[in-house]
Amino acid sequence: MMKIKVGVIFGGESVEHEVSVISAMQAMNKLDQDKYDIIPIYITKDREWYTGEMLKDIEVYQDLSLIKKYGKNVVLYYNKGRFVLQNKKFPKSIVTDIDIVFPIVHGTNVEDGGLQGYLQTIGVPFVGSDVYASVVGQDKVFMKDIWKASKLPVTDYVWFYDVDYKQDSEDVIKKVEKLDYPVIVKPATTGSSVGIAVCSTREELINGIDDAIQYDKKILVEEVVQHLKEVNIAVMGNYEHQKVSEIEEVISSNKFLTYADKYIGDDNGKLKGGKVPVKGTSKGMASANRKLPADLDDKVRKEVEEVAIEAFKALGSSGNSRIDFLIDEEKNKVYINEINSIPGSLAFYLWDAKDIDFSSVLDEMINIGVKDYKKRVSKTHSFDTNILQGFAAHGGVKGLKGMKGKLR
Ligand SMILES: Nc1ncnc2c1ncn2[C@@H]1O[C@H](COP(=O)(O)OP(=O)(O)O)[C@@H](O)[C@H]1O
Ligand SMILES: [Mg+2]
Repeated sequence: MMKIKVGVIFGGESVEHEVSVISAMQAMNKLDQDKYDIIPIYITKDREWYTGEMLKDIEVYQDLSLIKKYGKNVVLYYNKGRFVLQNKKFPKSIVTDIDIVFPIVHGTNVEDGGLQGYLQTIGVPFVGSDVYASVVGQDKVFMKDIWKASKLPVTDYVWFYDVDYKQDSEDVIKKVEKLDYPVIVKPATTGSSVGIAVCSTREELINGIDDAIQYDKKILVEEVVQHLKEVNIAVMGNYEHQKVSEIEEVISSNKFLTYADKYIGDDNGKLKGGKVPVKGTSKGMASANRKLPADLDDKVRKEVEEVAIEAFKALGSSGNSRIDFLIDEEKNKVYINEINSIPGSLAFYLWDAKDIDFSSVLDEMINIGVKDYKKRVSKTHSFDTNILQGFAAHGGVKGLKGMKGKLR
């Protein structure tokens, strides 16, 4: 049987570059070698694409000059019915075909639809969410707007642009103060806890906004969920079929809870503001502290599972995404916090806890990618007739008439 050539793309110009390298190494180790030819495609921080067997070895990433020297600098494109990696130094040299691309990338420029747009434009089959779902999966305002419109539970929130704030900060503050303090300020699209702050007073809010606009032009402010328990769940599938993983309780980010807790008991009994301690990364790698399975009663568990599937479908996600929840344990209320279209470590540990091993997760993701591709090509996207034919001859655009000679 012919092996399927899987191009695993990772790295890229993102603050989560290194996390992506680790996620990709973990996955390449577990892809079934009897079924797949695994072709690593590494995007450097300066956006050069490299391939080569050596890129399967984590050690080489300690010294980029090794990669530049021994790796093959390539470009992925469509050529006479095939998708190929072509050597940039030797334009006639095609390094390999690619049957399907497997993006294992995190953060801005890559997970956010940037890479998916490129893949969709050249037409290559790929694993995971398409452009639309990837874009909304990176923007905390887009995802909340869609979930809210779909009647799914999210905290109350408002958003604004940095220019709105610069032009009329009072108006923005007035809008924000329709929410109840404490609130949490977040840059909308940066994928790490940087720039996030809890604010209990107007003064803190102003500081929080001043800080957040350093990171993003778009700012989200939402109500803080009290008595917080954070749980994550993965959803695998596409718009047709979905299934859910085990649920984990995240302990490491409870640093934030303890931080808040510390201040809740002060004189006025209110949560004091401050920056959320940076957790290193929000990707939720396999090594983070967690309780797995999470300690939830059946009703809440069921709600998390059902809401996760609806949230996944509402965005049109595909592949294997992780959906993060905030639970108010006192009110027993569940809120969706965010989706990670391509979670750290591909959330394999959440599937493992359900006895689905990493290799099977990867198999399933590739199968879903193939199905998505077939679906995409089965829909009509263009017409064979060229409506521009005879356009100039019919005097379609006046300016074109003068061009006639040139066009011929
Ligand atoms: N509305 C909220 N109420 C309480 N805590 C929150 C809220 N939103 C975020 N947090 C805390 O801040 C952390 C980071 O926020 P999140 O929206 O997940 O951004 P990131 O992209 O950095 O993961 C969360 O893991 C959680 O601990
Ligand atoms: Mg998060």
